[in-house]
Amino acid sequence: MSKIKTKIIKVDPENLKEERVKEAAKIIKRGGTVAFPTETVYGLGANGLDERAVERIFKAKGRPQDNPLILHIAFKEQLEELVEDIPEEAFKIMEKFWPGPLTLIFKKSAKVPDKITGGLSTVAIRMPDNKIALKIIELAGIPIAAPSANTSGRPSPTNASHVVEDLCSKINMVVDGGSTGIGVESTVLDMSGEIPMVLRPGGITYEDLKLLINNVELDKSIIKDDENIIPKSPGQKYKHYAPKGEMTVFSGDVENMVSSINYFAKKYIKEGKKVGIMATEETKSRYSKGTVLVMGSRENKESIAKNLFNIIREFDNLDVDIILAEGIDTIGIGRAIMNRMKKASGNNLKRV
Ligand code: TXA
Ligand code: MG
Repeated sequence: MSKIKTKIIKVDPENLKEERVKEAAKIIKRGGTVAFPTETVYGLGANGLDERAVERIFKAKGRPQDNPLILHIAFKEQLEELVEDIPEEAFKIMEKFWPGPLTLIFKKSAKVPDKITGGLSTVAIRMPDNKIALKIIELAGIPIAAPSANTSGRPSPTNASHVVEDLCSKINMVVDGGSTGIGVESTVLDMSGEIPMVLRPGGITYEDLKLLINNVELDKSIIKDDENIIPKSPGQKYKHYAPKGEMTVFSGDVENMVSSINYFAKKYIKEGKKVGIMATEETKSRYSKGTVLVMGSRENKESIAKNLFNIIREFDNLDVDIILAEGIDTIGIGRAIMNRMKKASGNNLKRV
């Protein structure tokens, strides 16, 4: 792939001046690629109605062609020309959760290029809750296709330096708007079938959705760890977030996790391996061996979601051979966190 010069601009989301992001919108309108922050993770944006522009996203990320992209919009009116029909319940959901970390799947209209949907008859749409993202979409005046702005297979980027690490010289611009708030990607909810199905857990939790519509279900691939189940969301089947080191996720009673992790840390260190431990505020002082990084507090799982991908990247930079990670409960945002941890470890779970 030929190198391109990546321009990096800093934008203060609290004091957003249209002037600052005009160029980003212009690049996208003309078929280029721009990474920008959303409330979940950074996205790599391109004109969602231009196949050649979308192709540049796939190239820069090294993304498999059959993994469809999310179209990002800034106004609900933009939805109409992109989808075939909007079920009644979807209006209720959008009213409550848009803009926000929730992607909805609908039957696609003829206007949506096949490149976006990987040949599927459905399309994923989301309205992000981030001033910079919304302004860029508004100024570009088109739906913006934006997967997470990482190299395929690596953890999603939660700040601009992660994007630069992966995509420098491969995209036209990075809009640096600081760290993203939520830290895990949006919930993907399929509205195209009989029953609304959560295909990927994320910022809007299953419990949140249940409170609004009671007939929502979790896709089997989320509930079970069975690898034989083919996920409905193509992206869920690929290797994801994989750190360089071999990662194990522990689950069970916190005391048991701490003693197991201590046991394995000692064992691996004795074998001459470099060990990283993903701990929580509550347990960090209980580890005497290995490099301990704190994900956040068990009392505030949002803090864990926010730090998760950064910590996995950090362990790559530290070149650890082994990562021993504490699991957390799957209530609320915990479900999304455990889903990402399991994927990062290649489903290497140890119940203790
Ligand atoms: O929070 C997010 O959603 C971020 C930010 C940038 O908006 N974006 C993101 O995009 O995570 P990406 O491409 O990394 O993940 C999109 C997921 C993939 O798992 C993909 O397979 C799924 O959505 N998806 C897209 N279109 C789909 C469709 N028509 N049917 C089923 N799954 C779909
Ligand atoms: Mg992604």
